[in-house]
Amino acid sequence: MRITPSLLNADFANLAGEAARIPTADYLHMDVMDNHFVPNLTLGVPVIEALAKAAPQPIDAHLMIEEPDRWAPQFVEAGASSVTFHVEAAQAPVRLAREIRAQGARASMALKPATPIEPYEDLLPELDMVLIMTVEPGFGGQRFLDLCLPKIRRTRALLDKVGGDIWLQVDGGVSLETIERCAEAGADTFVAGSAVFGADDPGAMVERLRETAVGACH
Ligand code: DX5
Ligand code: ZN
Repeated sequence: MRITPSLLNADFANLAGEAARIPTADYLHMDVMDNHFVPNLTLGVPVIEALAKAAPQPIDAHLMIEEPDRWAPQFVEAGASSVTFHVEAAQAPVRLAREIRAQGARASMALKPATPIEPYEDLLPELDMVLIMTVEPGFGGQRFLDLCLPKIRRTRALLDKVGGDIWLQVDGGVSLETIERCAEAGADTFVAGSAVFGADDPGAMVERLRETAVGACH
């Protein structure tokens, strides 16, 4: 069970300091938005590059952008250990995943809530992680969409069939209240933004989320 907190709701003037408050986070989930793929604008390559140097945790870059084929390699060069592209935006997802892996990073593919997993079954072996969005991407603090749970279950079944060690990440509205449902459905990697950085002690919240997810699987 991995907890990968989103820094979208953290203090952008002090990202390294915010990362230090969550020392046991498995990755720092960084939400890159371009105001085209989603109606919001956040950060890009230079911020990832600076944080990769300043924070001890590896970086999990979630690209909510058009033209990920063109941009993703630059995020690997900037120091991201895992790069997630949206399949709705990718021109050539197989080539892109291979390129990310060839550069030495983990390749991950994200699906918006209305995008089915089944058409992508054959390309799962090209990936290190699948990200199932549990809100419409674009903003932190939205309500978890229960309608995504069956897709998490179906994705888990496909990943088990493919074998290997492909992680299944959920992102959007994950909290102490919703993380059990995600874990029971088969997720093993959890993004939480407002739940972590809205807590008095973000570091303790990371541990509580992890314990709750682990507890759901027993
Ligand atoms: C949404 C982002 C998420 C989000 C998480 O588009 O991809 O990472 O900020 O924030 P919460 O946990 O508040 O939904
Ligand atoms: Zn995200």
